[in-house]
Amino acid sequence: MIIDNEISVTEVVLRAMAGGDDARLRDIAASFVRHMHDFAREVRLTEAEFEAGIAMLNRIGQATNDVHNEGILFSDAIGLSTLVCLMNNGANGNTETAAALLGPFWRMHSPVTPNGGSIVRSPTPGPALFAQFDIVDAKGEPIEGVEIDVWHSSPVGLYENQDQAQAEMNLRGKFTSDAQGQFGFRSVKPAGYPVPTDGPTGDLLRAQNRHPYRPAHVHFLCYKPGFKTLVTQVFVDDDEYLESDVVFGVTRALIGDFKKHEIGTPPDSETSAPWYTLAYRFVMEAGEAKLPHPPIK
Ligand code: BEZ
Ligand code: FE
Repeated sequence: MIIDNEISVTEVVLRAMAGGDDARLRDIAASFVRHMHDFAREVRLTEAEFEAGIAMLNRIGQATNDVHNEGILFSDAIGLSTLVCLMNNGANGNTETAAALLGPFWRMHSPVTPNGGSIVRSPTPGPALFAQFDIVDAKGEPIEGVEIDVWHSSPVGLYENQDQAQAEMNLRGKFTSDAQGQFGFRSVKPAGYPVPTDGPTGDLLRAQNRHPYRPAHVHFLCYKPGFKTLVTQVFVDDDEYLESDVVFGVTRALIGDFKKHEIGTPPDSETSAPWYTLAYRFVMEAGEAKLPHPPIK
């Protein structure tokens, strides 16, 4: 088939790409071409705009290295990462707890911490947080022996590996749920933080007059063989960026009830008012347990 015009080019490309043994690859490639061609026709893409788009794609690759993945950040900032996450996890919140982005800050080998113990490993000024969790299966039965990695930013919005003032593995811990399916820890209330804006994703945000902030949150990775690994975040409910998370990670069910306490006796002698408590319930579905690739060491 010979290309006659801007419409028939699509058909010619689809025919050329119809071979190969991998049926799924054929479907994905064909759909990608159809959508890209339709997109170019819809916006009447100019040659200058096409060149700018390719240059941006190249800069995304060039900005990616061992400790930073600009491709993921760009997908995050256009909501594609969250869409894929929601399509593949949680059945729209009907069964398991909704998943949320792993993000770039998960580290393996978080310090094993006793249930109820503190993950504050160097002086970290800020309101104390006492968090308590239940982990249940789809029938509501407690799950014992789930390994839970917890990590979050400090009250000034920095993860320990971004901040000389914090000890190694500060505000990170590994817990195991007990026979009642519970675990908990003491920490400090996290703050929101900006994503990196020195690459092409930052250019996009500036061009769209968007701020670069994520609302404050705590990350969780819940792992037990026999259950689908749950990667999620619980968001601080008084954060000003809840409705404008730059990476669209906030879903309604993941907004935690962070209760502020200003009077009464603090839970321990190291704590002064105000302090916060959080109670949250995770639901894990039966399925395959697998750990993600650590984004950083
Ligand atoms: C995070 O929550 O750690 C995160 C997620 C996406 C982009 C940047 C940071
Ligand atoms: Fe985070």
